[in-house]
Amino acid sequence: VIDVPWSLSAKFVGSFAYMTVKDRLPTILTKVIDTIHRNKNKFFEEHGEEGVQAEKRTISLLSKLRNELQTDKPILELEDGMADTDLWNQYLQKQQELLDKQEAPSWFKSPWLYVECYMYRRIQESLHLNPPVSDFDVFKEAKTQSYFESQQAIKAICTHLHGLLEGVEGLPDSQLQGHFLQLLQVSLWGNRCDLSISAGKENAQKCSPIDSLEELKHFILVDDSSMVWSTLMNSNMSGEKPQVRVDFILDNAGFELVTDLVLADFLVSSGLAREICFHGKSIPWFVSDTTRKDFDWTIKQTLATNHRWVSWCGARWQKYMKDGVWSFHSHLFWTLPHEFCDMAADAPDLHNFLQQSHLILFKGDLNYRKLTSDRAWDHTVPFQKALRGFEPAPLCSLRTLKANVQVGLPPGRGEDLTAQEPDWMTGGRFAVVQFFCPSNEQ
Ligand code: F6P
Ligand code: MG
Repeated sequence: VIDVPWSLSAKFVGSFAYMTVKDRLPTILTKVIDTIHRNKNKFFEEHGEEGVQAEKRTISLLSKLRNELQTDKPILELEDGMADTDLWNQYLQKQQELLDKQEAPSWFKSPWLYVECYMYRRIQESLHLNPPVSDFDVFKEAKTQSYFESQQAIKAICTHLHGLLEGVEGLPDSQLQGHFLQLLQVSLWGNRCDLSISAGKENAQKCSPIDSLEELKHFILVDDSSMVWSTLMNSNMSGEKPQVRVDFILDNAGFELVTDLVLADFLVSSGLAREICFHGKSIPWFVSDTTRKDFDWTIKQTLATNHRWVSWCGARWQKYMKDGVWSFHSHLFWTLPHEFCDMAADAPDLHNFLQQSHLILFKGDLNYRKLTSDRAWDHTVPFQKALRGFEPAPLCSLRTLKANVQVGLPPGRGEDLTAQEPDWMTGGRFAVVQFFCPSNEQ
């Protein structure tokens, strides 16, 4: 039996979870309301009187939601009859059972991970309940803007990829490794560009991502990237015709997604992988997370860009999708509040699917929180222990730190960091490349 520490929660007054629920989440909700209001004539009024009413009702549900949050009301059941509604309501039931009968799960008392996910699902419910504009993505504007603000960096990384691929054939493994590690780091630091930590404020990549890698190395607290490389090499050497598959559990659209696509392209064109499966969200999530629409939009945008190597990349990426070398999947488990150690029991189909992978890359902070169950682990606890049995295949988290959970550090390191930089876990300045390989794979 593993003794599991408590879940991070806003009930710890003054904690990062507390500040998030108190300040950041209401700000995000206010922006959502504002976005719907501003788009009133563009999207809603197009549908005549029905649209006008839908806009009004959606806004009123969202204001009610914000009020429930701010006044720490009980978490309510969902009522929109979507494919995952029952799962959410069962989860609420479970949360209720964890408390004694007098108390109800609520915004400031329940686990932070749960209530934060629930807020994004309730935003979706407000829209679902009010057709005809129920598929309106309230975060689309912010994602688009962030993509365009990162244009310079996107041009730089696409040009870099073109340069690399020109000479990729016949490269000795040592050089291939060097390029791979660089692109892995670009994808890692791409994770700084998320819009949820900044409550939707501008957070784009402005300068060339390659130039800054050297000075950023110092901020990588755990760097298992050589093990990621060995896993790829070993998979390629095993069996007669290795069909190596890499899975990306995507995080943010915008610059981060482009860095993921660049890394995926490199994996395929260098022969390190034959197949890439991307996993994204089925509803708008944590402001900037990638949905299928964002994914397709990004490839179309790159293709249409008036820059030789960006559109060159776009054409390749479109072809990979058409040929099935790349594929996009959006299982609804990714937008549930569950810790990943629940996946085998609660989403066995997804778990089986991931077991076929040779390497799973989990992008970003939220995925790290779900990998480690978002709990107050001691920093020296091994990554494997925090995974609590979630071991579908060799896996690696590429994450910049934006929430106060971090495992796998040497003794004393966490304390040193706290002394030097009290907000080292939440400021997005530090990062980890943290790997785990189930023992039968090694
Ligand atoms: O509170 C910070 C936060 O919103 C976390 O909830 C979440 O873990 C993170 O930002 C989102 O980051 P990422 O896009 O890297 O998952
Ligand atoms: Mg995100």
